[in-house]
Amino acid sequence: MTASDIEAGITAAKFRHAMGHFVTGVTVVTSVGADGKPVGTTANAVSSLSLEPPLILVCFDRASLTLEAVRARGAFAVNMLADCQRQLSVNFARRGLAAAWEGVRHKAGATGCPRLHGAVAVVECTVEHELPGGDHEIIIGRVRHVDTGDPGLGPLVYWRGGYTSLAEASGAG
Ligand SMILES: Cc1cc2nc3c(=O)[nH]c(=O)nc-3n(C[C@H](O)[C@H](O)[C@H](O)COP(=O)(O)O)c2cc1C
Repeated sequence: MTASDIEAGITAAKFRHAMGHFVTGVTVVTSVGADGKPVGTTANAVSSLSLEPPLILVCFDRASLTLEAVRARGAFAVNMLADCQRQLSVNFARRGLAAAWEGVRHKAGATGCPRLHGAVAVVECTVEHELPGGDHEIIIGRVRHVDTGDPGLGPLVYWRGGYTSLAEASGAG
């Protein structure tokens, strides 16, 4: 069997279904648009990359409007959502939806990018590198500022295509 035979058998749906078994947190990656307004997208393709220097990576769909702003601004903030922030995740998963910001408490961080109130942690970065990754772009960020929220907050969890919490997943919720 050749590599292309193997690839031909992997449909997008099968691939997505399999990768959905890799449990992740959920973030809203924010930046500032050319008009000075906040922008953001829900993202779970986020990973810690290096300790020395401190680097993280975010994989953006090439069509993402937030990616456009991140490139232009050269900075972004990764807001790790709390389990009570599911609706934020839903709202920020809608392309360019300025209304997603309505009623959302936030303030500009050290890089000027929006830090969402109530997030379990926020990591602010400047763009260090950009690499192609198929239909996505891998943005590598140099960590400039970190902050953790209320230690009593649980994280929002994404698993097998749906939201859950640690409490629900352990049967306690
Ligand atoms: C749980 C979840 C995780 C997502 N993760 C990513 C991601 O890592 N990268 C990405 O580009 N889009 C991701 N998306 C999809 C974007 O949020 C969606 O395409 C959004 O409309 C992009 O908005 P924008 O074009 O305004 O940036 C995710 C959506 C959901 C619901």
